[in-house]
Amino acid sequence: MSAVQELLLLPLALLVLQASLCHGACVEVDSDTEAVADGGFKLGCISCKMRGEVRATASVKWYFKALDEANFTEFYNYGKYNDNIIDPRFTGRLFWNGSKQTEDLQDGSIFIINVTFNDSGTYMCKFSRTLNYSNFQFITNSNKTFFMKVVPQITRGLASILSEVMMYVTIIGLQVWLVVEMIYCYRKISAAGEEALRESAAEYLAIASESKDNCAGVQVAE
Ligand SMILES: *[C@@H]1O[C@H](CO)[C@@H](O)[C@H](O)[C@H]1NC(C)=O
Ligand SMILES: *[C@@H]1O[C@H](CO)[C@@H](O)[C@H](O)[C@H]1NC(C)=O
Ligand SMILES: *[C@@H]1O[C@H](CO)[C@@H](O)[C@H](O)[C@H]1NC(C)=O
Repeated sequence: MSAVQELLLLPLALLVLQASLCHGACVEVDSDTEAVADGGFKLGCISCKMRGEVRATASVKWYFKALDEANFTEFYNYGKYNDNIIDPRFTGRLFWNGSKQTEDLQDGSIFIINVTFNDSGTYMCKFSRTLNYSNFQFITNSNKTFFMKVVPQITRGLASILSEVMMYVTIIGLQVWLVVEMIYCYRKISAAGEEALRESAAEYLAIASESKDNCAGVQVAE
């Protein structure tokens, strides 16, 4: 492995290390925003509890506004280990992907299957959290809104095939250019080399004859 490769891998290794050290810590990652038609898609929504040590319970409501709609309508909710799909457009297509085996929800993500173009639109998730302090309760709410676009399968396939072809063309092109450059340089160097050889041969002869004189001088001195 070259030094450059090692240098590139170092931050990655640190990242993995950090991720494993921070395991269990809550990070509010934004949702992806591009789904592929007929596929599955995770509608991400994470709301971290500000006071990690305080016990809490939370419920999540999801709202949807289609491209041709003016208002949000609730289509799904989750709380107390139960989920409800309210909107018939999503019947049988939504699955809880959030925090499991706890009422103290921090991940309110859901998974949608058989994505259709009609699923394009604005999604909003609302967390309602009750913090249980020893002698009082405190309720907090948080919202996340994002736009999700559904793209056809073929576009992505075509785009990736095209980019792959472009990658090979670029690699082969660069190598051909490299070979041409090498041949050109080799010729130039060998031409220059012959010239230099001739020159140095002449030089050598001159030096040799000179040193012969010197040696003669040395020998004389002995
Ligand atoms: C999702 O698509 C699969 C395969 O096309 C089909 O068998 C299934 O019934 C669909 N589910 C829903 C809820 O539409
Ligand atoms: C989310 O739910 C879907 C459907 O149940 C499942 O296939 C997928 O593995 C889940 N993903 C996560 C991260 O829990
Ligand atoms: C998408 O919406 C249009 C108009 O509302 C409707 O005619 C069509 O059946 C819907 N398609 C799917 C796959 O639900």
